[in-house]
Amino acid sequence: MDRIAIQGGATLHGEIPVSGAKNSAIKLMAASILTNQPLRLTNMPRLADTRFLGQLLRQFGIEVTETDGPDGQETLFDGRDIRSTFAPYELVRQMRASFNVLGPLLGRTGHAKVSLPGGCTIGARPVDLHLMALSAMGASIELEEGYVSAHAPKGLRGAEIEFPFVSVGATEHALLAAVLARGTTVLKRAAREPEIGDLARCLIAMGARIEGLDTDQLVIEGVTSLNGADWSVIPDRIEMGSYAVAAAMAGGEVRLTKGRADLIQALTDKMVEAGVEVTPTDDGVIVKRDPKQRLKAVDVTTEIYPGFATDLQAQFMALMTTAEGESVINETIFENRFMHAPELARLGADISVHAGEARVQGVETLTGAPVMATDLRASVCLVIAGLVAEGQTVVDRVYHLDRGFERLEEKLGACGAQVTRLKGEGDEH
Ligand code: UD1
Repeated sequence: MDRIAIQGGATLHGEIPVSGAKNSAIKLMAASILTNQPLRLTNMPRLADTRFLGQLLRQFGIEVTETDGPDGQETLFDGRDIRSTFAPYELVRQMRASFNVLGPLLGRTGHAKVSLPGGCTIGARPVDLHLMALSAMGASIELEEGYVSAHAPKGLRGAEIEFPFVSVGATEHALLAAVLARGTTVLKRAAREPEIGDLARCLIAMGARIEGLDTDQLVIEGVTSLNGADWSVIPDRIEMGSYAVAAAMAGGEVRLTKGRADLIQALTDKMVEAGVEVTPTDDGVIVKRDPKQRLKAVDVTTEIYPGFATDLQAQFMALMTTAEGESVINETIFENRFMHAPELARLGADISVHAGEARVQGVETLTGAPVMATDLRASVCLVIAGLVAEGQTVVDRVYHLDRGFERLEEKLGACGAQVTRLKGEGDEH
């Protein structure tokens, strides 16, 4: 298994280009199931998660071709023939979001058998709302031996669906199913994450009829078929936010490009409150901090978009470990998402966790140590802490990191961070 070694103490100076959003790319890839025409996605991140999903799509008979085009990395999907609608456990367990192929497979072919997902170990993460939405659209659903078998021989039909609470995954899944359903679907209490807007806009470019974009109510008028399209993936706000925090932690001045400042506003507001200088630009932000000056502790509560993203909570906690005073961090989206706290404590952080609340008492210095990544976002928080920890920090299990961060060592290294990958043997992830 690969590990990442960070030599703490270097300030960061330079530019980091933001990649296309993982959480958007994987939903856009699932949209390729819906059409027998080519879908071309540009600004595609190359990550373990997109690779897993590519493998799954190939198994359905979709041709997936990755190239480096004039607009950067792109992937072409050609789903002329769907030869299989079976998604095996071995592929779905690698990445939860691949469960979202169920709806589009049903929409296109009327049947599918998809394994229940595995994925990040952050709380229970059920899929009951996904199945509730598909049943409401007329699918008959059976659960057997870890698999969901779904049938809608006459096609899905539009339905009014009110989610009991906001779920990003269930909203996207219902949207992917509804575009080819007969009649109108109304999704109430829909999630408003920018990646959902990106998916909806791409579907519209493919010929779908969707209203209420970026609101909590989506109205979808089903169409009988969708076209291909060319679509550029929205910038990754979580990657962007992570590097913004990294720059704030290490100190120095970093310009984040190919991003969008508005997508990380909730984070940058908190960073500014803590004493970081953040200047929005046309395609990103400039993050500046004098490493000699200590940041102030500030409190955050994770919320649905446009609130503070749960996917940035671990990184912000790392930032708070050396701030002056106490920071109270409330996690309201996922229970059990503080697994990084004991790992940060190995570096000398002072954190106590009670239920959904973490209290971080800022310390003056962190000290390097071996630590273990427990999930995708937690792994980057350990790299961030390692940037200031005295001596060397080695993060184990970086396959979590590889699921969502493209060329991390290269991007941070270009700004002066001393981050190296230690190649492991027999890594199957
Ligand atoms: C997505 C993102 C993830 C982000 C999260 C919240 C992807 C691949 N993942 O995850 O990075 O952290 O949104 O912004 O895009 N729930 C149920 N039943 C369901 C579905 C969800 O109870 O059927 C619960 C979950 O356990 C959780 C809450 O709803 O407590 C929110 O989950 P959801 O928004 O669905 O998150 P994901 O789509 O899994």
